[in-house]
Amino acid sequence: MKRDGLTELITAEKIAARVAELGAEISRDLAGVDELMVLCVLKGAFIFTADLVRHITIPCRIDFIRASSYGTHRISTGMVMLDHHHDPCVEGKEVLLVEDIIDTGLTFSRILEELRSQNPASLRVCTLLDKASARTVPVKADYTGFTIPDIFVVGYGLDAAGLYRELPSIAIPNA
Ligand code: IMP
Repeated sequence: MKRDGLTELITAEKIAARVAELGAEISRDLAGVDELMVLCVLKGAFIFTADLVRHITIPCRIDFIRASSYGTHRISTGMVMLDHHHDPCVEGKEVLLVEDIIDTGLTFSRILEELRSQNPASLRVCTLLDKASARTVPVKADYTGFTIPDIFVVGYGLDAAGLYRELPSIAIPNA
Protein backbone atom coordinates (compact mmCIF):
# COMPACT_ATOMS: atom_id res chain seq x y z
CA MET A 1 0.00 0.00 0.00
CA LYS A 2 1.47 3.37 -1.03
CA ARG A 3 0.88 6.53 0.97
CA ASP A 4 2.18 10.04 0.34
CA GLY A 5 5.19 11.04 2.39
CA LEU A 6 6.32 7.48 3.05
CA THR A 7 8.92 5.22 1.43
CA GLU A 8 8.14 1.53 1.80
CA LEU A 9 10.89 -0.53 3.44
CA ILE A 10 9.24 -3.94 4.06
CA THR A 11 6.13 -4.98 2.15
CA ALA A 12 3.06 -6.49 3.81
CA GLU A 13 3.71 -9.74 1.90
CA LYS A 14 7.26 -10.03 3.25
CA ILE A 15 6.04 -9.33 6.78
CA ALA A 16 3.30 -11.97 6.53
CA ALA A 17 5.76 -14.60 5.26
CA ARG A 18 8.30 -13.84 7.99
CA VAL A 19 5.66 -13.81 10.76
CA ALA A 20 4.50 -17.26 9.63
CA GLU A 21 8.11 -18.53 9.75
CA LEU A 22 8.62 -17.10 13.23
CA GLY A 23 5.41 -18.73 14.48
CA ALA A 24 6.50 -22.08 13.07
CA GLU A 25 9.97 -21.75 14.61
CA ILE A 26 8.59 -20.82 18.04
CA SER A 27 6.09 -23.70 17.87
CA ARG A 28 8.90 -26.15 17.03
CA ASP A 29 11.22 -24.87 19.77
CA LEU A 30 8.51 -24.94 22.42
CA ALA A 31 6.76 -28.13 21.36
CA GLY A 32 5.60 -29.98 24.49
CA VAL A 33 4.96 -26.82 26.50
CA ASP A 34 1.39 -26.96 27.93
CA GLU A 35 0.79 -23.25 27.85
CA LEU A 36 2.77 -20.33 26.51
CA MET A 37 2.29 -16.95 28.12
CA VAL A 38 2.59 -14.41 25.33
CA LEU A 39 3.30 -10.89 26.60
CA CYS A 40 2.68 -8.19 24.03
CA VAL A 41 4.56 -4.97 24.68
CA LEU A 42 2.11 -2.14 24.02
CA LYS A 43 1.52 -0.26 22.05
CA GLY A 44 3.76 -0.97 19.09
CA ALA A 45 3.61 -4.78 19.13
CA PHE A 46 -0.19 -5.16 19.03
CA ILE A 47 -0.49 -5.98 15.33
CA PHE A 48 2.61 -8.19 15.25
CA THR A 49 1.37 -10.13 18.29
CA ALA A 50 -2.10 -10.60 16.79
CA ASP A 51 -0.61 -12.08 13.61
CA LEU A 52 2.13 -14.08 15.34
CA VAL A 53 -0.11 -15.93 17.81
CA ARG A 54 -2.21 -17.21 14.90
CA HIS A 55 0.88 -19.08 13.69
CA ILE A 56 1.76 -20.54 17.09
CA THR A 57 0.40 -24.05 17.59
CA ILE A 58 0.92 -24.15 21.39
CA PRO A 59 -2.03 -23.03 23.58
CA CYS A 60 -1.39 -19.38 24.46
CA ARG A 61 -2.40 -17.17 27.35
CA ILE A 62 -2.10 -13.66 25.95
CA ASP A 63 -1.47 -10.62 28.09
CA PHE A 64 -0.15 -7.10 27.65
CA ILE A 65 2.43 -4.90 29.27
CA ARG A 66 3.01 -1.26 28.58
CA ALA A 67 6.34 0.46 28.22
CA SER A 68 7.06 3.86 26.79
CA SER A 69 10.34 5.51 26.04
CA TYR A 70 9.82 7.93 23.16
CA GLY A 71 6.91 10.19 24.08
CA THR A 72 6.22 12.12 20.91
CA HIS A 73 9.88 12.33 19.85
CA ARG A 74 11.82 10.20 17.40
CA ILE A 75 14.95 9.93 19.51
CA SER A 76 14.95 7.64 22.53
CA THR A 77 14.81 9.65 25.75
CA GLY A 78 16.76 6.98 27.60
CA MET A 79 13.93 6.86 30.16
CA VAL A 80 11.78 3.75 30.10
CA MET A 81 8.49 3.85 31.92
CA LEU A 82 6.63 0.65 32.73
CA ASP A 83 2.97 0.80 33.57
CA HIS A 84 2.52 -1.06 36.83
CA HIS A 85 -1.26 -0.76 36.91
CA HIS A 86 -1.50 -4.03 35.10
CA ASP A 87 1.42 -6.36 35.79
CA PRO A 88 0.74 -9.92 34.62
CA CYS A 89 2.26 -12.50 36.98
CA VAL A 90 4.83 -14.60 35.12
CA GLU A 91 6.14 -16.67 38.03
CA GLY A 92 6.69 -20.28 36.95
CA LYS A 93 5.34 -19.60 33.42
CA GLU A 94 6.84 -20.22 30.01
CA VAL A 95 6.95 -16.68 28.66
CA LEU A 96 7.35 -15.22 25.20
CA LEU A 97 7.79 -11.44 25.21
CA VAL A 98 6.74 -9.86 21.91
CA GLU A 99 8.33 -6.53 20.95
CA ASP A 100 7.84 -4.30 17.92
CA ILE A 101 11.41 -3.08 17.63
CA ILE A 102 14.65 -3.13 19.58
CA ASP A 103 16.52 0.12 19.14
CA THR A 104 18.91 1.16 21.94
CA GLY A 105 17.84 -1.94 23.90
CA LEU A 106 16.86 0.08 26.97
CA THR A 107 13.17 -0.85 26.92
CA PHE A 108 13.97 -4.51 26.32
CA SER A 109 16.51 -4.70 29.16
CA ARG A 110 14.22 -2.87 31.62
CA ILE A 111 11.33 -5.24 30.88
CA LEU A 112 13.56 -8.32 31.08
CA GLU A 113 14.96 -7.19 34.43
CA GLU A 114 11.43 -6.76 35.73
CA LEU A 115 10.16 -10.10 34.42
CA ARG A 116 13.24 -12.08 35.52
CA SER A 117 12.74 -10.84 39.08
CA GLN A 118 9.44 -12.78 39.06
CA ASN A 119 11.17 -16.10 38.21
CA PRO A 120 9.39 -17.30 35.07
CA ALA A 121 10.08 -20.95 34.10
CA SER A 122 11.52 -19.65 30.83
CA LEU A 123 11.68 -16.30 29.08
CA ARG A 124 12.16 -15.82 25.36
CA VAL A 125 11.94 -12.64 23.32
CA CYS A 126 10.61 -12.19 19.82
CA THR A 127 10.98 -8.85 18.05
CA LEU A 128 9.68 -7.92 14.65
CA LEU A 129 12.47 -5.43 13.95
CA ASP A 130 15.99 -5.03 15.21
CA LYS A 131 18.09 -1.89 14.75
CA ALA A 132 21.21 -3.76 15.78
CA SER A 133 23.56 -0.85 15.00
CA ALA A 134 21.68 1.50 17.37
CA ARG A 135 22.28 -0.59 20.47
CA THR A 136 23.61 1.05 23.65
CA VAL A 137 22.68 -1.92 25.89
CA PRO A 138 24.01 -5.31 24.71
CA VAL A 139 20.79 -7.33 24.33
CA LYS A 140 19.67 -9.81 21.69
CA ALA A 141 16.26 -11.31 20.96
CA ASP A 142 15.76 -15.07 20.57
CA TYR A 143 13.65 -14.49 17.46
CA THR A 144 13.99 -11.55 15.06
CA GLY A 145 11.81 -10.76 12.07
CA PHE A 146 14.04 -8.29 10.23
CA THR A 147 17.26 -6.46 11.00
CA ILE A 148 17.01 -2.90 9.68
CA PRO A 149 19.36 0.09 9.50
CA ASP A 150 19.27 2.78 12.17
CA ILE A 151 16.42 4.76 10.61
CA PHE A 152 13.04 5.75 12.01
CA VAL A 153 10.24 3.56 10.65
CA VAL A 154 6.46 3.42 10.98
CA GLY A 155 3.64 1.04 10.16
CA TYR A 156 2.45 -2.43 11.20
CA GLY A 157 1.93 -1.16 14.75
CA LEU A 158 4.81 1.32 14.90
CA ASP A 159 3.94 4.99 15.12
CA ALA A 160 5.22 8.51 14.80
CA ALA A 161 3.38 10.50 17.50
CA GLY A 162 0.43 8.07 17.38
CA LEU A 163 0.09 8.00 13.57
CA TYR A 164 0.70 5.29 10.93
CA ARG A 165 0.14 2.24 13.17
CA GLU A 166 -2.53 0.94 10.79
CA LEU A 167 -0.24 0.68 7.74
CA PRO A 168 0.13 -2.94 6.60
CA SER A 169 3.80 -2.45 5.63
CA ILE A 170 6.86 -0.92 7.30
CA ALA A 171 7.81 2.47 5.87
CA ILE A 172 10.19 5.39 6.32
CA PRO A 173 8.50 8.78 6.74
CA ASN A 174 10.08 11.30 4.36
CA ALA A 175 11.76 14.06 6.40
P1 IMP B 1 14.64 1.26 22.83
O1 IMP B 1 14.33 1.32 24.29
O2 IMP B 1 15.56 2.40 22.41
O3 IMP B 1 15.16 -0.08 22.36
O4 IMP B 1 13.32 1.60 22.05
C1 IMP B 1 12.31 0.70 21.92
C2 IMP B 1 10.99 1.36 21.68
O5 IMP B 1 11.13 2.63 21.01
C3 IMP B 1 10.16 0.49 20.76
O6 IMP B 1 9.40 -0.43 21.49
C4 IMP B 1 9.34 1.51 20.01
O7 IMP B 1 8.15 1.79 20.70
C5 IMP B 1 10.20 2.75 19.96
N1 IMP B 1 10.95 2.83 18.68
C6 IMP B 1 12.27 2.60 18.47
N2 IMP B 1 12.59 2.79 17.18
C7 IMP B 1 11.44 3.15 16.56
C8 IMP B 1 11.11 3.46 15.18
O8 IMP B 1 11.95 3.45 14.26
N3 IMP B 1 9.81 3.77 14.95
C9 IMP B 1 8.84 3.79 15.91
N4 IMP B 1 9.11 3.50 17.19
C10 IMP B 1 10.40 3.18 17.51
